[in-house]
Amino acid sequence: MKLKAMYSFLNNDLTIIEKELEKTAVSEYPLLRQANLELLQAGGKRIRPVFVLLSAMFGNYDIQRVKHVAVALETIHMASLVHDDVIDDAELRRGKPTVKSRYDNRIAMYTGDYLLARSLEVMTNIEDPLAHKILSQAIVDVCLGEIEQIKDKYQFDQALRTYLRRIKRKTALLIAVSCQLGAVSAGASEDIHRKLYWFGYYVGMSFQITDDILDFTSTAEELGKPVGSDLLQGNITLPVLFALEDPIMKRDIEKISMKTTPEDMQQILEKILNSGVIERSAQVSERYLHKAFRILEELPKNRARSTLQSIAKYIGKRKF
Ligand code: IPE
Ligand code: IPE
Ligand code: MG
Ligand code: MG
Ligand code: MG
Repeated sequence: MKLKAMYSFLNNDLTIIEKELEKTAVSEYPLLRQANLELLQAGGKRIRPVFVLLSAMFGNYDIQRVKHVAVALETIHMASLVHDDVIDDAELRRGKPTVKSRYDNRIAMYTGDYLLARSLEVMTNIEDPLAHKILSQAIVDVCLGEIEQIKDKYQFDQALRTYLRRIKRKTALLIAVSCQLGAVSAGASEDIHRKLYWFGYYVGMSFQITDDILDFTSTAEELGKPVGSDLLQGNITLPVLFALEDPIMKRDIEKISMKTTPEDMQQILEKILNSGVIERSAQVSERYLHKAFRILEELPKNRARSTLQSIAKYIGKRKF
């Protein structure tokens, strides 16, 4: 089943969110207006709003309230993408030129900052100090994740722990908080919103590991950007960490820099693909997913739970 078909019963509410998202992200200011409109219209899976809505179904679901949370989370996500493309020097995002390539790095940094500020503003519609505490902490963590990404580039001797902490901050926490805040804003009990947080965390870890695998195994067409960009950029992801355990591959990988030719890169990519490290990484991703499923079983049985289950299954097998 296609991802969108799994939650087609949310379509009316997602349309409301899409409109709100445009109001929030698209500023009156012409330059920001243009940059953000392009990013929004390029699409995206909107997976974080979907997690917010489904999690709110464990409490008193009210779209007019929960929409603010969904918009705030997708806006933070958009900001992190705009910043990420500066960090990764990426030309393409969702198949379209990135803000940093269409304009420049400075404009992209401020566009991202503007989006972070707007997310806080939208959240003021929810009068609940706990919700604000969780959201602002999530922004802090995303920013720390961004700094760590820069700091850890081309650091070939980093520990597995360092990688896991980085993907937790840059990806998993935002998905965890999407689930938690959906439930908090709908007045669900603490037991429920804590469990949803952990569900989102485990799914988020698996999601980023899969993203890192896809950077090796997918096609430029499906990714909307060139394959192998992570390694070329010095992003040490899980397949690379495993490959670095082999002294011969380590020697090749450590030589990689922005000056590496496409032919040399192709050879290294092929070695990595044929060395079993992709399969090992997929096993780690599977283990996180398994933990996510275990937590779901502790939640009340309803349509939201079965949909979260299908989405998590899809994430384990996603191709883009
Ligand atoms: C991309 O996130 C960045 C990661 C956290 C891996 P998504 O894969 O959710 O991006 P869009 O919103 O669908 O483009
Ligand atoms: C995810 O890391 C970064 C964010 C959380 C924004 P990536 O650098 O792998 O994201 P993509 O692959 O460019 O979407
Ligand atoms: Mg990145
Ligand atoms: Mg990137
Ligand atoms: Mg990636």
